[in-house]
Amino acid sequence: MSVLTLTINDIQCTGREGQTILDIIKENKISLPVLCDLKGLTPVAACRLCLVEVKGIPKLVPACTTKIQEGMVVYTDSEKLRNYRRMIVELLFAEGNHICASCVVNGYCELQNLGYMVGMESVRFDYLWQLFQIDASHPRYVMDQSKCVKCTRCIRVCDEVEGAHVWDLKGRGINVRVISGLDEPWGQVKECTQCGKCVQVCPVGALFEKTATTSEMIKDRSFLERILEGREAKIWVR
Ligand code: SF4
Ligand code: SF4
Ligand code: FES
Repeated sequence: MSVLTLTINDIQCTGREGQTILDIIKENKISLPVLCDLKGLTPVAACRLCLVEVKGIPKLVPACTTKIQEGMVVYTDSEKLRNYRRMIVELLFAEGNHICASCVVNGYCELQNLGYMVGMESVRFDYLWQLFQIDASHPRYVMDQSKCVKCTRCIRVCDEVEGAHVWDLKGRGINVRVISGLDEPWGQVKECTQCGKCVQVCPVGALFEKTATTSEMIKDRSFLERILEGREAKIWVR
C-alpha cells in the first residue's frame, strides 16, 4: 500500500492509500468537530460537521468520507468553516427539544460538547418545538425522538456490529425519523437482542437506559474497541 503525503493546516502529514482525511487529522491530533463519525462504524457523512477546505476543490468536503490523495492541501480552520459549523450545531438544537437541564446525558452529551467547541452562545434560529414521541415499550431502554440528531450511529451499530438491523430511517427532510422494526414499538421488535449497543453509541439523550435519570447516563463505547481488536486478530475465525 503506497504512502501519500499531504498538508493539513500547513503541517506536513503522511498517510496510507485508502485512508480518509479524518483518519490523518486524528492521527495528527488536529481538532475537528464530528458527530456521526464513530470508529468501528462505516462513515456516512450525515452530520456535515467535519467539512474541510481542500485546495482546488470549490466545495467543502466531509473529512470522514474523503480519501486522501498525494499532494492534497487541506484546511480545517477558517472563518467560513467556523461559521458553518456553528450554524449546523444551532440548527440541531433548534430542530429538537433540547432542554439540557432535564436530560439524562446532561454533562456527558456530544451535542452539548459541540456547542461549547464551536462557541455557540445562543441559537439564532426559531426553535421548532415539534411534538415528538417517546417510546418506552422496551423492557430496558427508552427512545426519545425529541433528542435525536439523525446521526444514524444506532442504525449502523445494530446492523454492522450486532447484526440485528432493528433501526432504520423513515421520511424525508424535516420529517425524517429513526424507526424500530417496521415502524412499530421498539419493545415489539423481535430482532432486538437487548444488547444495548445502540444506546451506548447514541451521542445524545435520544437512547437511554430506563434506570437512568437526569445527568446519570454515561455512555460506554469500549465494546466497539474490543470488537474491532477481536476482528483484526480474527479471534472469531475458526
Ligand atoms: S441530548 Fe444533549 S443537547 Fe440535547 S438536551 Fe440532552 S444534554 Fe442537552
Ligand atoms: S437515536 Fe441516537 S444514535 Fe440513533 S440516530 Fe438518533 S441520535 Fe443518532
Ligand atoms: S463526521 Fe463527517 S459528516 Fe459527520
